[in-house]
Amino acid sequence: KKKVTARTLLEMKAAGEKITQMTAYDYTTAGIIDAAGIDSILVGDSASNVMAGNQDTTPITVDEMIYHARAVVRACRRCLVVCDMPFGSYQVSREDGIRNAIRIIKETGAGAVKMEGGTEIVDTVRGIIAAGIPVVGHLGLTPQSIHRLGGYGLRAKEEAEAQKLMDDALALDAAGVSAITLEKVPAALAAKVTTLVKAATIGIGAGNGTDGQVLVYADALGMTQGFKPKFLRHFANVHQCMTDGVQAYIRCVKESTFPSDAESY
Ligand code: KIV
Ligand code: NA
Repeated sequence: KKKVTARTLLEMKAAGEKITQMTAYDYTTAGIIDAAGIDSILVGDSASNVMAGNQDTTPITVDEMIYHARAVVRACRRCLVVCDMPFGSYQVSREDGIRNAIRIIKETGAGAVKMEGGTEIVDTVRGIIAAGIPVVGHLGLTPQSIHRLGGYGLRAKEEAEAQKLMDDALALDAAGVSAITLEKVPAALAAKVTTLVKAATIGIGAGNGTDGQVLVYADALGMTQGFKPKFLRHFANVHQCMTDGVQAYIRCVKESTFPSDAESY
């Protein structure tokens, strides 16, 4: 099948074909997800939580994102790889943001970058697109601002924040973003934004009215324990599957039934 690019997302929106996206942060996992037929892999800064065990996404660096994205790009034949720009890599200045976006594309081979925020970052977004790099926006719950937001609850419940989100989406759309991630906002608002913008909307905890869906693979495949917000569905139980495999290995080594003669040289 044909390689998915940022432009393909707009074609899929126009055709009414749902866009599927999942995160990945390493070569082996990305290879499985790409071969399974996903449209896009997001190298999310959620790597900070999922890979490194941090409490939030703020500590991860550009160098670390590049390490993860390079590994993912090496594994992907068909899907579009989107790499998150981490906290601090585009908030200081437009020049800084453009420089970091160029570095990420140059050193990883990803097909787009993703950035959190609306009107505050729209000049930077315009500069990155002008440099030839497709940009994905991210509105609603924006985890890089967790200390200001004060928690991971639903966003834009009230009219003022919903209006600000629509203004932000329109500003990003006018700047030419290819897609906008909508995280943890009411379904009706996400559906409305989807009709307002040319960009493809990709929801997480944003209902079924967006152009596509994204989930963190470790959550979607049931690897993480004790994290089951209402928006999340477990499409597999990899935690159980891995536990069974590890315990079978332990048992066989302890019983001295592994390795067998056939498995020895
Ligand atoms: O970093 C991430 O995984 C994300 C998705 C949750 C959208 O930004
Ligand atoms: Na992210």
